[in-house]
Amino acid sequence: VPLEETSLPLFFGWFLLPGIQDKVRCTSMDFLKTLDTLEAFKKHLPDFTVEAEKEVDLEQYFQANGVLHCTTKFCDYGKAEGAKEYADKPAVKELYGSAFELSLSALFVTPRTVGARVSLSGDQLTLWPADAEEVVSVVPAAATTLPAGSRAHITLGCAEGVEPQQTGFDLLEILALQQEGQEGELVEEMELGSLAYYGKGRWLLSLREPISAQACFSSLYG
Ligand code: A2P
Repeated sequence: VPLEETSLPLFFGWFLLPGIQDKVRCTSMDFLKTLDTLEAFKKHLPDFTVEAEKEVDLEQYFQANGVLHCTTKFCDYGKAEGAKEYADKPAVKELYGSAFELSLSALFVTPRTVGARVSLSGDQLTLWPADAEEVVSVVPAAATTLPAGSRAHITLGCAEGVEPQQTGFDLLEILALQQEGQEGELVEEMELGSLAYYGKGRWLLSLREPISAQACFSSLYG
């Protein structure tokens, strides 16, 4: 492979610092541990898993993968559309290697993924690619109605055989429902926040106190 084709990373993003990674993982584990014991969750279990199981252990169901991060631009070593343009953006060059505070405002679970929603601030949005929400074929409502940055998330785990990019689609799907005026069925006030159900096995926990996560803007070559 010629060098110019490998000079772009697999992806750019914010990488959580080690201490806060542990905290986010623990919070997510606590949430999963509580969620699968709730009567409401058990009631909707058929939406969650196709198999005729009576119970599911969510901590086993999702596989964790790698260092926790919030992808900004997936470049695929330069093969992804707009990769070079993104890498050349002045903000990307200028802020590469800088520290940020990400605000994690919600946790969500679907039959495919578990993730954290990241609410980006104005300066963080300067690093957000304009086309991130243009996934019309996957989530039709996302491109037209959702503001830039809606897809920002941290993948915390994927069900077997599910690719991490699914986490962003799952989040967009929930946000599109909210945008259409579906508030979700308020299920329970938990210690961490309020839990709502959006049908088809989709759960959203809006955190009472957003988690502030220190992260470094960088890239991964993989
Ligand atoms: P995510 O950001 O949702 O976690 P992989 O391991 O599949 O190569 O992916 C590496 C990272 O890039 C993951 O964090 C993944 O998802 C993200 N990613 C993979 N493919 C895409 C894509 N087509 N668009 C946006 N992000 C992607």
